[in-house]
Amino acid sequence: MTAVGIDAIEIWTGKLKLDLAETFAPAQGDDPGKYTKGLGLHASSFPDVYEDIVTMGANAAYRLMDRKGLEPDDIGRIDVATESSFDNSKPVSTYIAGCLEQVFDDDFHHANKGERKFACISGTQSVDDAYNWIRAGRNRDRAAIVIATDTALYARDDPGEATQGAGAVAMLIDEEPAIVELSTEQGYGSADETDFLKPNQQFPSVDGKRSVKVYLARMREALDDFATVSGSIHPDDYHMIPFHTPFPGMVRKAAALGYRHIVRGTDVEDVLAEEIGHQPVRETFDSEEAFNDAIREYTDALTETERYRDWYNQAIEPTLEISRHVGNWYTGSVHLARASGLKVAMEQDIDLAGEKLLVASYGSGAQAEVHAETIVPGWEDEIAALDIDDQIQRRYDLSFEEYEEIHDVHNHAMDAHVEEDAEELTPPEAEFAFDGWGRMGERKYRYVE
Ligand code: CAA
Repeated sequence: MTAVGIDAIEIWTGKLKLDLAETFAPAQGDDPGKYTKGLGLHASSFPDVYEDIVTMGANAAYRLMDRKGLEPDDIGRIDVATESSFDNSKPVSTYIAGCLEQVFDDDFHHANKGERKFACISGTQSVDDAYNWIRAGRNRDRAAIVIATDTALYARDDPGEATQGAGAVAMLIDEEPAIVELSTEQGYGSADETDFLKPNQQFPSVDGKRSVKVYLARMREALDDFATVSGSIHPDDYHMIPFHTPFPGMVRKAAALGYRHIVRGTDVEDVLAEEIGHQPVRETFDSEEAFNDAIREYTDALTETERYRDWYNQAIEPTLEISRHVGNWYTGSVHLARASGLKVAMEQDIDLAGEKLLVASYGSGAQAEVHAETIVPGWEDEIAALDIDDQIQRRYDLSFEEYEEIHDVHNHAMDAHVEEDAEELTPPEAEFAFDGWGRMGERKYRYVE
């Protein structure tokens, strides 16, 4: 079977930065440690006044095509995953294709375009769609571009405000990929939940504490389901586990639960038992409460063991590096985690060819999905092309007053003139920029040389 997977990745961050410890925490009257240690976040990326999900997605896709020497005729499909869409009918992918047609001689009239929605997991679902399209032999030798793009903004003073972010990840899905080959096996955990939703509103309604529990519950189901197709899962089988990362503190919890779950009944549990005992077994407790207390105690002890810490430092920590500085990118978040892990490995000269990733996606509402990916030889050349560190460094550092203004600029409920009249904080250069509204209320874009 020909390998199908991710052939190239480009990342585009919003060009503004909100420093959580220096700028946000003092204004909120909070201890900076709540953000840097508790949530594990140092800063969030924000879009400048001329940036939005279309410009960020188009900029990432253009760089991807340009770097790979691709023309529109090489692309048969453009799928956008977002939960920040501004139109209930016209998909963002049409706007992005329109942008790209400004800079290429040819058009994308032959390409199938769509927009996927299932909260943050839709980026992974779009990769699946592209994978299935190629596997079904419907691609006529063309590749697919999947773009996960979001402005993950919360209402002011919502507990989620510290976890905001904005950016896009563009991925080229093709045969004989240069980064990772996707496995056919997948595991799902899916249920009708009301943890985080946007019922015809821009900013989410969130039950934050519950959303954390739902994430963990669905992830556990997805791991169980994955084990039914892949056979038992052993931590040594996967070099890294990129999780959906709304904030690194969430992944800290997910990793502990995941590790505890996958080592149960294995040689690893036996070795750990010498130090912290065996895992509590539900049937041996009189009440659910007593069992939950015992599980919590065991998990706390587990995360203090050297064996767990070594595993965490290899399998999880590298996947969080970019996220700590850019915040939640919703649909792009798990793809940023994969890129982050690979980037750190490349910088450390780790030979990952043939190694496996276990990729764990999540979307509120709610669904988790787990699948394996095999890293292919030459992956480091693709990852070396990323310039995300430079982009992060170059961001404009917002004062709190500027943050308040930029939040208003991107608040759809505000008068449209707020957006039109606002002063940009960074000059657009060699990128797509928002250019006002058209006669039917559509958004317009231009390429700035
Ligand atoms: N030093 C160190 N740590 C500190 C601290 C300090 N000074 N002050 C607080 N902390 C710790 C807390 O103990 C806590 O850690 P634990 O969870 O490990 O106990 C952490 O910092 C956060 O503090 P709070 O729980 O008090 O924070 P909060 O209640 O204000 O907000 C939140 C947390 C509810 C998750 C909020 O950020 C939120 O609503 N986020 C949006 C929803 C979300 O991201 N949910 C995640 C799952 S859903 C999902 O993944 C989909 C998605 O992308 C949105």
